[in-house]
Order: sequence, then C-alpha cells, then structure tokens
Amino acid sequence: MVKIAPSILSADFSQLKEQVKTVEEAGADWIHFDVMDGHFVPQITFGPIVARGVRKITKRFLDAHLMVHTPDRFLEEFQKAGINQLTVHVEAALHLWQTLQRIHELGLKAGVTMNPATPVDWIHNVLHKVDNVLVMTVEPGYGGQTFLPEMLKKVEALRELKIKYGYTYEIEVDGGIDTQTAPLVTRAGATVLVSGSSIFNAKDVSAALKDIKKAALNGLNQKV
Ligand code: DX5
Ligand code: ZN
Repeated sequence: MVKIAPSILSADFSQLKEQVKTVEEAGADWIHFDVMDGHFVPQITFGPIVARGVRKITKRFLDAHLMVHTPDRFLEEFQKAGINQLTVHVEAALHLWQTLQRIHELGLKAGVTMNPATPVDWIHNVLHKVDNVLVMTVEPGYGGQTFLPEMLKKVEALRELKIKYGYTYEIEVDGGIDTQTAPLVTRAGATVLVSGSSIFNAKDVSAALKDIKKAALNGLNQKV
C-alpha cells in the first residue's frame, strides 16, 4: 500500500476548496500541510487558522510538516484546528523526546523529519516512539525543487531499521516527487509520497495524482 499526500503549498489558494476536493476525489490519502515560519526556513506559509479551514473541507488525514523553530509553541493550536499528525524537524526541536511525547498526549500521530544533510543517526533514539519518519528529498523551504537521489539511502536505511527492530513508522518522502522519482522511492521503501508542484501545477490535477500513484505502485513491484 502506498499513500499519496498532495502538498497544498503548491495549490492555487484562490480556489483551495476546489483543489482539495479534486485531489481527494483523485485518491489523495493524506493532505500535506507545509507550515513555514520564515525563521527555520526562509518562507512564511500558513498555520492553525488555515488548518481549521482545510479541516472543514475534507475528512482526509491532515499531515502537518512543521518547518518551524521550537515547534512546541504550536502543538495545541494545531490539535485544536483538527490536524491529525505533527511532524517536527530534529534540527528545530531542542527537546525532541519531550515534543514527541507531548504530540501523543494531545492524541495526535507524531513524526520526525530531517534536512538532507542530517544523518538518520540523529533520530535513532526516537524511532521506537514515532508514527512517521519524513525523509526530506529536497532542502526544506520551497516547492518545485529537484529531487536529491542521495536521499534514497536514507529511505533504505529506515526500511532496514523497521525490519531489524520491528518499528512501525511510515516512511514519508517529500520533495521533487513526480512520475520519474516516485518508483525510485517506493522501491527503496517509502510508504507515503508527498507531491506538490507535480500535482497542482499540472493542467489536469486529478490525472497527475493518479499517474504518480501508478508510478509509485510500479516501483513497489521492482523492490530491490
Ligand atoms: C518543501 C516542502 C515540500 C514541498 C514539496 O519545503 O516540505 O512538501 O512542498 O513540493 P514539491 O513536490 O513541489 O517538491
Ligand atoms: Zn513538506
């Protein structure tokens, strides 16, 4: 089973409701919510207020990627807004163990993510605690960047650790995912694929999502 999580960062915000409905009907499993604070990453995007609006228009799993410094400041607000999962950057959470604990106390799924230059070793001690590990396959901060193939070995390493220790986390990949790169990441062990510009910048958003899902499933059949 491979899940597709369209990132609304690349959606047309003048018609966000229609865009979310379109990807929902096309088979989106999660809606990926790129929160940026203009501090941890250069851009500012959106927060709990927009999350509340999106919650009203879809029943899908809302997967928030917090590219913010000290994410602890926002956990309750996102929980109240109806987000289902909060994934935080290991580079931005000074007390990561406690932050993940707090996310679970709020009844949400907890995820951890790392920038391209950050090794998987940095999160080894929390892998038993998380529901999701997000492998950034671009430098966080912008949609539409080129996929970094060097990140495939992180996906493979996380799959090995799951097999070796029986961990249950999803392996989510994020950045530059299209019909070419989708099979590469599922073959390496990814279970959730985030895609923004390849879906929302396409002439036919629905067809674009379906093509990526098809390509991702093809990769599963060619697993290494
Ligand atoms: C980048 C975000 C990604 C991005 C993916 O900082 O975390 O989710 O929106 O967008 P594409 O698919 O356009 O690379
Ligand atoms: Zn993201």
